[in-house]
Amino acid sequence: MEQLAGSPAFLDLRDRIIELARLRSEDRVLDIGAGTGLLTLAAAPHVSHVSAVDISPAMCARLRRNLDREEIDNVDVLTDTATALPLADESVDAVISNYCLHHLDDNGKRQALTEVMRVLRPGGRLVFADMMFSLDLVDPRNRAVVALLIKRVLKHGLAGISRLAKNATRIAAGRWERPATVDWWLEALHRAGFIAVSVRAFEHEGGIACARAPHPTT
Ligand SMILES: C[S@@+](CC[C@H](N)C(=O)[O-])C[C@H]1O[C@@H](n2cnc3c(N)ncnc32)[C@H](O)[C@@H]1O
Repeated sequence: MEQLAGSPAFLDLRDRIIELARLRSEDRVLDIGAGTGLLTLAAAPHVSHVSAVDISPAMCARLRRNLDREEIDNVDVLTDTATALPLADESVDAVISNYCLHHLDDNGKRQALTEVMRVLRPGGRLVFADMMFSLDLVDPRNRAVVALLIKRVLKHGLAGISRLAKNATRIAAGRWERPATVDWWLEALHRAGFIAVSVRAFEHEGGIACARAPHPTT
């Protein structure tokens, strides 16, 4: 995963997320599904505090090592789940996340949004990137994304064909990642009570979402 996180595409995505989150030096930030720290390591030097949550103890251990190496000491690494965040109500100014939420089923994603709303201060920002498409091939964007993914995999010859077969088996067995579409996220974010919602698809399979927690009067 560290290799993927270091790819130009992920570094570009990291910069976009950080920029859109408009982080300020006094901010307390939450990174959901922090992994080895792509977002956390970039955000921490510019804010007051980061809570980095990841469900995997192994990822958390690697992130702690990376933080030690970079001598960053304003991050708490918390082994926990996006669907039951280990943080107090209204305790963070911004929530950021990269390529985590497709690991959750639709109920899990909705629960994660409810949790984000709970821990965000009024006016707080949410910015996340994730895979955004579905296997419903009636939709032209989904068709284009699936064709692109197949083309990418087939470029690797026999190894690619074997990976394609493996993925087809995972889909058939219901063990495929669970990306949601742009429309799904728009509806879910509005339903969870967020305002200033925008969700944009990239040319590839990904997309980026931005939203804000309302002030009590809005
Ligand atoms: C593809 S990695 C992305 C990691 C990092 N955000 C990055 O961009 O490099 C997805 C991460 O989400 C974590 N994850 C999966 N399900 C989770 C959940 N329910 N709650 C918190 N983290 C989760 C995984 O352990 C993994 O570290």
